[in-house]
Amino acid sequence: MSTDTAVTVDELAIPASMDVPEAADFAEMVDVRNAIETQLMGTDALNYSARELLPVYQVPEDDPMRLFVARVGGRIVGRAILSWQPEEDAIASWLEVEVLPEFRRRGVGTALFDRLTELALASGRPTLQAETIHTRPSTGRRIDSPTGYGWLSDDDPGVRFLLGHGYQLEQVARISALPLPADAARLAEQRAAAQAAAGDDYRVVAWAGPTPADRVDDLVTLKTRMSTDAPSAGMDFTEEKWDAGRLARWDGQLAGSGRERLTVAAEHVPTGRLAGYNELSLPADRGRPVSQEDTLVLTEHRGRRLGMLLKVANLQRLAEVSPSSPMVTTFNAEENRHMLDVNEAVGFAPIGYEGCWKLTR
Ligand SMILES: CC(C)(COP(=O)(O)OP(=O)(O)OC[C@H]1O[C@@H](n2cnc3c(N)ncnc32)[C@H](O)[C@@H]1OP(=O)(O)O)[C@@H](O)C(=O)NCCC(=O)NCCS
Repeated sequence: MSTDTAVTVDELAIPASMDVPEAADFAEMVDVRNAIETQLMGTDALNYSARELLPVYQVPEDDPMRLFVARVGGRIVGRAILSWQPEEDAIASWLEVEVLPEFRRRGVGTALFDRLTELALASGRPTLQAETIHTRPSTGRRIDSPTGYGWLSDDDPGVRFLLGHGYQLEQVARISALPLPADAARLAEQRAAAQAAAGDDYRVVAWAGPTPADRVDDLVTLKTRMSTDAPSAGMDFTEEKWDAGRLARWDGQLAGSGRERLTVAAEHVPTGRLAGYNELSLPADRGRPVSQEDTLVLTEHRGRRLGMLLKVANLQRLAEVSPSSPMVTTFNAEENRHMLDVNEAVGFAPIGYEGCWKLTR
């Protein structure tokens, strides 16, 4: 290989902010990410700006990760992220590798993946996990999810790459979008019906931005439960340890990112405690898609239409706060029928799929 086409792999230092000169590499990496994911999804709906993504990399105590880039001729052509849970009992690492379509099939992906694999195994966490995103499955051989719900196609480069490295598909998630504005009259009807089913013991409370002081204890519980209650099939995921400090660091990411968070929660009136919550994350550019983050109803409060109540209440709030938002996107396990029922009822439809993969050594 001539020097021009040689591939180099380097760790990318995380800049303190997007205003320092070293942030140029981070910005280039995010442009590469967005180009690749736009190609994978056939839409730029899942793109984020560098400013929005940077805070995600800046909380090593809660979300440890290492970022690598592959360059050809000085230009970033691929990126790789190794991440893991900080909890002591965590046994898995997540490996993510993305290469620009025009630089594939020449070993860039393998060079990045080998680097991550070596570090992951040296860390003492024996399980390696990866996720892939796709538009609708195409015409290749079906790779069925062992959950019995969802499948991918083996003509996809990411699927072939992971199968070639010995990984097994463990789960398929559906990526859905709700075009906005939603029908206000329909939302009002759905909210009234859900509130009637939930009864007077539950009331909706709402806030924007960081967690109010009097809700911190409840959010610590809800976030902890969220980490185990969303179906994760055969993927290794350990319960996250949340406390007021972690919640404050998580809330602190908002200011740096320029994003806004809308939270609605269901208060159980007799106890004053929160029974469930729903979060929407809005980009600073209100013309960009909104991301649905957590939705959770605690086990002991399920079966009372609170999931629907919270979903609809936050969509109503979104319409007030940001009437120009064009869509909401969300990821749900394909076997998570209760959540999919709620989402389908308000108008979410599939735009793609996510594969969750595991290699056990
Ligand atoms: C998966 C992905 C990272 C692979 O990147 P890549 O740079 O093409 O990877 P490599 O070139 O190292 O290897 C990929 C393929 O090229 C082959 N290959 C490697 N070197 C080659 C070469 N010099 N000439 C021809 N083929 C080559 C590999 O054997 C493999 O073949 P296969 O797909 O038919 O099994 C890339 O397709 C991508 O970014 N996909 C989207 C993101 C994704 O799905 N990531 C995977 C999970 S983290």
